[in-house]
Amino acid sequence: MTDRESLPLARLRAEPWYVDRVTFDGAHVRAEGWSMRVGAREPDEGWFTINGRRCDRIAYPLRRDDVGAVFWQRRDAANCGFVAEIDALDDPYPDGMMEIRRVRADTPRVERGRDSWFVPDTARHTDLPGDDRRFRVIGDRDARGFLVSGATDYRRLDRALVELTGRRMHEHARALDWGVGCGRVARHVPRSSAQALTGCDIDHDNVAWCRDHLPGTFVASTLVPPLPFDDDAFDLVYGISVFTHLREPMQLRWLAELARVAQRGAILMMTTHARTAIDFSRLAPDAYTQTCARVERDGIVVSGSNAQLDGHADHGGEYVNVYHSDDYVRRTWGCYFEILAILPGYILHHDLVVMRKR
Ligand SMILES: C[S@@+](CC[C@H](N)C(=O)[O-])C[C@H]1O[C@@H](n2cnc3c(N)ncnc32)[C@H](O)[C@@H]1O
Repeated sequence: MTDRESLPLARLRAEPWYVDRVTFDGAHVRAEGWSMRVGAREPDEGWFTINGRRCDRIAYPLRRDDVGAVFWQRRDAANCGFVAEIDALDDPYPDGMMEIRRVRADTPRVERGRDSWFVPDTARHTDLPGDDRRFRVIGDRDARGFLVSGATDYRRLDRALVELTGRRMHEHARALDWGVGCGRVARHVPRSSAQALTGCDIDHDNVAWCRDHLPGTFVASTLVPPLPFDDDAFDLVYGISVFTHLREPMQLRWLAELARVAQRGAILMMTTHARTAIDFSRLAPDAYTQTCARVERDGIVVSGSNAQLDGHADHGGEYVNVYHSDDYVRRTWGCYFEILAILPGYILHHDLVVMRKR
């Protein structure tokens, strides 16, 4: 429970962080961002590493009043800015991506993916969907954010999967990206295993874009089940920010349908808006505590409408914004799947729910 008297908190449930900008000039790399600070002593590796290397210089913590204003409920949140630099980085994008990591010994192993951001080599991503297509999937037109968030989400899913099951994303024989949008995450599946990927979405224009530009199979689907796939078709199903937008009766239908297309033992990874999403929501203190209490009490709460798909998918008011509590997910989703883990704030402001088909 969060009441007004307990605020500000010493730590947020998942301490958020973000890399705002990375510049690479010759061999010199400079990463700027913010991360809530815990502990007075710098770890031996330094506060941040780039591609696993110790930085030559780190300025931290720097004042970031803009971040402090968002996370007012976290004590000392404004002291979080950082600049990390390496003067000579020879291979900035091993496997096509630069990894910027914050060093925190207290992160549970299964959640360690959250401590890394991945910045893809833009030279490998010249063929991007246009602004409007990108806006429909993340509510933002920034091309760099589209690439960095997609790469980071993909790699974080991969890390959680390895920790929980010992297998990597691309080692699955048939994977489904449910609600693929314009391939923000799917484009980061390694080319060599992209043929194992199927993506589907109710936004048929975005599906067509994926089909024309990305390796894999992309299929138009409908707002209500069924999916155009056989029973037991997939051994991995992930859905980033889909259950965050459907009302409860529709969610229950989709849980049953995803169980149908998932084979026994298949892994499902779905995101929710939970406590971390409320932390990001810029609510004033009274609204914040009321929303936290309401989500805890009701388990699932529609927080507002969402117009991002208007004109592109006939959703009849079904596409909304939804908060879930952990307890609700364990109780309700747990009737359809075995819940392996709920990783708070793992996909930026989303929680990641990892499940197994019984
Ligand atoms: C917030 S966007 C996220 C897109 C993509 N997963 C990503 O992370 O970039 C949500 C997506 O879910 C799709 N969607 C909503 N309801 C759906 C449903 N019932 N079946 C498949 N896709 C759906 C929307 O069209 C939209 O592309």
